Amino acid sequence: MQKPNLRPVVPHFSSGPCAKRPGWSPENLKHAALGRSHRAKEGKAKLVEVIDRSRQLLGMPADYRLGIVPASDTGAVEMALWSLLGARPVDLLGWESFGIEWVNDVTKQLKLKDVRPITAPYGRLPDLAQVDWSHDVVFTWNGTTSGVRVPDGNWIADDRQGLAICDATSAVFAMDLPWAKLDVVTWSWQKVLGGEAAHGMLALSPRAVARLESYTPPWPLPKIFRLTKGGKLIDGVFAGETINTPSLLCTEDQIDALRWAEGIGGLKSLIARSEASLEVIADWVAKTPWVDFLAEDPVTRSCTSVCLKIVDPAFLALPDADKTAAVKALVAPIEKEGVAFDIAGHRDAPPGIRIWCGATVETSDVAALTHWLDWAFAETRPTFKKTA
Ligand SMILES: Cc1ncc(COP(=O)(O)O)c(C=O)c1O
Repeated sequence: MQKPNLRPVVPHFSSGPCAKRPGWSPENLKHAALGRSHRAKEGKAKLVEVIDRSRQLLGMPADYRLGIVPASDTGAVEMALWSLLGARPVDLLGWESFGIEWVNDVTKQLKLKDVRPITAPYGRLPDLAQVDWSHDVVFTWNGTTSGVRVPDGNWIADDRQGLAICDATSAVFAMDLPWAKLDVVTWSWQKVLGGEAAHGMLALSPRAVARLESYTPPWPLPKIFRLTKGGKLIDGVFAGETINTPSLLCTEDQIDALRWAEGIGGLKSLIARSEASLEVIADWVAKTPWVDFLAEDPVTRSCTSVCLKIVDPAFLALPDADKTAAVKALVAPIEKEGVAFDIAGHRDAPPGIRIWCGATVETSDVAALTHWLDWAFAETRPTFKKTA
């Protein structure tokens, strides 16, 4: 097969850090409050700007709190789990590595006893009807390593007594989130908007705040996790007074990303860009015999972390241990050509391909990539037997 002529303009398809927004340049960061204190008026105003623009763009209810917290999405999720859990039984949903991490964290680190892990293998969602909404419920909106997302929030009870705690890092800004159904929502800057890493966002519903103010967990909390003082919410965390020092360069970059998102038409446009890329991949998968979605049910297919499995008989005949090497061999020529980086599936997922299709990726680049995948597959298939 001949090498395709057309190349993606941007070869960045990693699922995190994700591609910078189209037109990004370091020049856009020249107004960063560098060398200034994040507690000074200018620095704090930048942090507040990230919070305000994020709220606005996402259509977050006015009575929800939103704060910038340390340690990226993991930091935000851990703060929520360690600060809120233990007051009620907990249902823990996991269907890929990140969700399973939260299951392990709650069962093995917090050592909560009254928990129900509700899990499913890669490619599927667990049975959401099993969830008991008198319990707290922990789940990811989009399973980044399997490309399986919950299709909507209809399974979340409006009159729930427990809290719906949602790790939404690869969903926010690319999927519609039903805010009234969610009590805790977390994300990071480097996913759908292509920001810089290390900062987390933590959104809390009034019910989550009420829990924080009425319940004290029995375990010690490091300063970095603390959201209350003397039984009251630390308001400053939600008003740009971060717990520890943030990067004002990353902050400026996030403001740039949020401005870009507003400029292209806001959340609707972000979602449309992502869904359009998913559609291009779906069309390609439909006519390509060697590849299929890892997500079994089309309504659960992620529009951001699109995970594909290889279903060619020569690949399937390989011993499991050799499949990872075969995927490496498949993506190597694409990477060598500078056409696409970081598209091998996550190390914990079944060996396959993962193509990030969040809003900062151009659909035309995704379309161009599919031709290169066809080319690489034709080149690599004869070697599958030898990868052992
Ligand atoms: C669903 C999910 N949760 C958590 C994480 C960890 O995020 P971070 O590296 O921002 O802490 C990721 C990263 O890809 C993720 O996709």
